[in-house]
Amino acid sequence: MTTDSSDPHEMHRDGTDREARTDGGVADSDEVALDPWGSATVNDYNKLFDQFGIERFDEVLDAVPSPHYLMRRGVIFGHRDYRAVADAMTNDEPFAVLSGFMPTGDPHIGHKLVFDEIIWHQQQGGDAYALMADLEAHSARGLSWDEIDEHARNYLLSLLALGFDPDAGTLYRQSTNREVQDLAFELGIEANFSELAAIYDFDGETDVSHMQSVVTQMADILYPQLKRPVPTVIPVGPDQDPHLRLARDLASRVRYFGVTEAYASFEAAEAELAVIADAYDRLEDGEETVRCEDAAELLDAEGTTVPTATETVVENASSLLNGAGKEPLRPRVRIVDRNATEEAFEALIAAVEGEKRVYDAHIDAFELTHEEATTVARDVELDHGGYGFLPPSSIYHRFMTGLTGGKMSSSIEASHISLLDAPEAGYDKVKSATTGGRETAEKQRELGGKADECPVYELYAYLLAGDDDDLATEVYSECVNGERLCGGCKEQAAELMAEFLEDHQEKRDEWEEKLDELDFEFDVAGLK
Ligand code: TRP
Ligand code: SF4
Repeated sequence: MTTDSSDPHEMHRDGTDREARTDGGVADSDEVALDPWGSATVNDYNKLFDQFGIERFDEVLDAVPSPHYLMRRGVIFGHRDYRAVADAMTNDEPFAVLSGFMPTGDPHIGHKLVFDEIIWHQQQGGDAYALMADLEAHSARGLSWDEIDEHARNYLLSLLALGFDPDAGTLYRQSTNREVQDLAFELGIEANFSELAAIYDFDGETDVSHMQSVVTQMADILYPQLKRPVPTVIPVGPDQDPHLRLARDLASRVRYFGVTEAYASFEAAEAELAVIADAYDRLEDGEETVRCEDAAELLDAEGTTVPTATETVVENASSLLNGAGKEPLRPRVRIVDRNATEEAFEALIAAVEGEKRVYDAHIDAFELTHEEATTVARDVELDHGGYGFLPPSSIYHRFMTGLTGGKMSSSIEASHISLLDAPEAGYDKVKSATTGGRETAEKQRELGGKADECPVYELYAYLLAGDDDDLATEVYSECVNGERLCGGCKEQAAELMAEFLEDHQEKRDEWEEKLDELDFEFDVAGLK
């Protein structure tokens, strides 16, 4: 995220307030904790890029055909692998979108962001899924099934009222989706307790059902790919990123084959491979066969030109090469057997074209590109009953600031606007919201307001301006130029909010009549 404040569409929320964490500690200012069950705040979104490897959304924005306003305005600030989805969208290829909601309270305007993201991807041609995380709400939050049923119904009504097409898309709840439960069980085989403990801070006191809700979420995330592997985006808040990292990992662990690079028969780590590749490039002249020992000699005498390689890496590479002696050094693609059946491995051998060398648990292919090898491996896997999962993609949106400042929270009534709030109540909440305004009108005219720190401006940018960039820009620039005063600004926002709520609730009422026609189990009496 840029810190240049000249672009009114970019949100600037590098707030410095520290949040107490649920574990009783206080998040260190140098460290961001992403806790799916903790307090959903992020002090500095920039840290998420360096610390967790989330990528900046800016970087992929140009690849998205007619991006959503939440993307244009930087509300969606980060992603993992979203290019795969953007490319599918561009090329009219299949893709999917899925997100889940813990039905623990009334849906509010923060949830609307995610509803909108799902709906937009559906309208762009994606296969859309929305699920109620009822197992998670019951196990991690302790809600009763009656409460969960009621909240789930309310979430669904709002999702539908905002435009989700239930005929084209899929709605389900975790507890009654047998396929999801079966997939969760399979995925659970690839994850053990120590790993969950490390990722989620689980310990000996963590109940087993909470852990089960984690593998269920892993299955949710991969569920759209049960039919066939397709790029799938999971729109969520950054607190859910640990789940995404684990899901991406599990997706590859259950694969039959992995595709890597190699230069000789031995295995080498990525850093060593880079050093070996560099030595190969320096020795290869198109005439004589380059041998492993030649490369070792070169490394010992002259070192590497790979700037990031440490001395140990170079030493390790050299000793691997020495061990292989006179074996020719040749670039190749290696397809490694991870979970394949014997028949699948045999089929892969037959399917790899051109010169190849077959080992116990891998095949070296000399005439395939990495991409070709990936495709062959996936096709064989799918033919032999494997999942062939692609790593799921994700996009991350900023958390909305509460109307009273601080975080927007379902448990603080005045901090949020529920999608069920009466229009007048919504109006009143906006009117009494905190602003980024100055103490006096005079000062405001002189210095301008602080739109970047104003929850009311956020309402415009995240919701009220909708697709109308001109309105968002106008509010922003009038505010920071001192042409706009908070009283009038809030009045306009409050009216828009009341209109939105009225319209939304009318649509909810219409859907209420049709809920029986939906393929969704609203009542999980069996679990009570
Ligand atoms: N854990 C999510 C939450 O706390 C809910 C959820 C369950 C979810 N399954 C999911 C989110 C799959 C995204 C994708 O709100
Ligand atoms: Fe916020 Fe509007 Fe006041 Fe600016 S004028 S600080 S946007 S309420």
